[in-house]
Amino acid sequence: MKKQNIGILGMGIVATGFCQTYFLNQGEIDKKMGTTFEFKKVLVKNKDKKRISELPQSIYVDDFDQFDLKELDIVVELMGGVSPACEYIKKALEAGCHVVTANKELMAKKGKELIQIAHKNNVLLRYEASVGGGIPLIGTINDSLTSNKIVKLMGILNGTTNYILTKMTKEKIEFDAALKRAQTLGFAESNPTADVDGFDAAYKLAILSKDAFGVIPDPEEISKQGIRNISIEDIEYGLELGYKIKLLAIGERSNAHVELSVQPTFIPIDHPIASVNNEYNALYIEGNSVGEIMLYGKGAGAMPTGSAVLSDVVDIVVKKSDYIGSCMAQNIVVKNIGFSAYYVRMEVLDLPGVLGQIAVAFGDYGISLDSVVQRARGGQFAPLVFITHDVERMKLNDALRTIASKEYVNEIQSIIKVVK
Ligand SMILES: NC(=O)c1ccc[n+]([C@@H]2O[C@H](COP(=O)([O-])OP(=O)(O)OC[C@H]3O[C@@H](n4cnc5c(N)ncnc54)[C@H](OP(=O)(O)O)[C@@H]3O)[C@@H](O)[C@H]2O)c1
Repeated sequence: MKKQNIGILGMGIVATGFCQTYFLNQGEIDKKMGTTFEFKKVLVKNKDKKRISELPQSIYVDDFDQFDLKELDIVVELMGGVSPACEYIKKALEAGCHVVTANKELMAKKGKELIQIAHKNNVLLRYEASVGGGIPLIGTINDSLTSNKIVKLMGILNGTTNYILTKMTKEKIEFDAALKRAQTLGFAESNPTADVDGFDAAYKLAILSKDAFGVIPDPEEISKQGIRNISIEDIEYGLELGYKIKLLAIGERSNAHVELSVQPTFIPIDHPIASVNNEYNALYIEGNSVGEIMLYGKGAGAMPTGSAVLSDVVDIVVKKSDYIGSCMAQNIVVKNIGFSAYYVRMEVLDLPGVLGQIAVAFGDYGISLDSVVQRARGGQFAPLVFITHDVERMKLNDALRTIASKEYVNEIQSIIKVVK
C-alpha cells in the first residue's frame, strides 16, 4: 500500500486525539484513502516524555531542524500559539507540504497570509478544528452550503463561557462561583481571560467570516464584550421576559458591509440556540436559499477535535482540491452599527412619574420600548428594566447618557443585546 508521510507539530491533547482516532478507525480510513499514514516525525518540547503507545519514541524530536520537511506530504500543526507555529507552517507550505491546523489564534491573526502562501505553493491549508472542535462548521459552509449566500451566523463558539452561563442560569450562582466550578472541572483555564473576555470566540468568528462572507477581518475589528459583568439579576429578568442569556458570536451580511460582534445576548427561550447548554457549542446559519440550519456538538476535547483534524487530513489525501465555497469579497467592509433591540436595567428613585419621564426621554431619541418591568423594593431606589425595539447602539448610548444625567436616575447597570 502507498504511504502518506505525516509530521506532527506537538503531541498534546488534540494531537493525541488525532492519533487515537486514526488508530481506532485505521482499517476504514486507509480503505477510503487507498493509502496509509506513516508518522515520520513529531516535534515536542520534551522528547523523552512517554506518549501514545502506537508511535515509537524514536520519532520524537525537540528541534525543528530535525523535522525533515522534504520527507513529508502533510504537516499537522497542534502546538498552539502564534509563534513559532506560524514560522513552522510557513516553512512547511513553502517546502510543498499540505498543512492542517486547529490553531484559531494563528488562523485569525495570520490566516490571510498563510492562505496566500499555500496558494502560491499549490498546497492546501485546512483548519476545520480551529472553530467548533468536532463540529464540521468550516466544511459545511465551504462545501455543503456553497450554493448559498450566507446572510447570518450566530454561534456559541466557546464552551467555557457557555458552561458558566448555564450554571449561573440553572443554579443561580454568580459569575465568580461558576468560573471556579468550571476551573475545578477543567472546563476553564487558570487564566480564563481568552475565554471569558470574548477573545477566543472573536478569533473563531474571524475565521468563520472568511468562509461565510469572504471577508477576513483583523480580530481587533470585531466588537467584543465578555461575560464578567453578567449578574443573576439580569439573568432572572431575562427569563421573566422570555429570554436566555448566551455569549453569542454574530456575523451579519448586508450588501455593503459585514457586522461582526461577540457579546452576551438575550435570545428567546424557544430559539434552538437557547437550548445549547453546558460546554456544548453550536452554530446557527441562515442561507438565502437553504433557510435556517443549526450544527451542534462538542467544541473541544481530545477525540472530537482530533477527529476534525483527521477528517481534514483524509480530505486532503482523497480530494487534493481547495474549497470552492468562499471567494474574497472585494467591496464589503466590517462595520459595527449594532442595530438591535437592547435590554437596559437601571436603578432609579422610587417615586411616582419616574417611569413616564424615562419613557419620554427614550422617545426624544426616537427609541420605542417593547417591554418594561418595574419593581418596588420598599427603599429609596427601585430597579427599572426596559427592552427597546431595534435601535442603533450609538443612538441608545446617547439616550442613556441623557437619562443617566437625570436627578432621579442613580445608575445605568446593564445594557445587553437582545435577539428577538
Ligand atoms: N484542547 C482542545 O480541546 C482544543 C480544541 C480546539 C482547538 N484546539 C487547538 O489545538 C491546538 C493544540 O491544543 P492542545 O490543547 O492539544 O495543546 P497542548 O495539550 O498544550 O499540546 C501542545 C503540544 O505542543 C508542544 N509544543 C508547544 N510549544 C512547542 C514548541 N515551541 N516547540 C515544540 N513543541 C511545542 C507541546 O510539547 P510538550 O508535550 O513536550 O510540552 C505539546 O505536545 C491549539 O492551537 C488549540 O487552540 C484545542
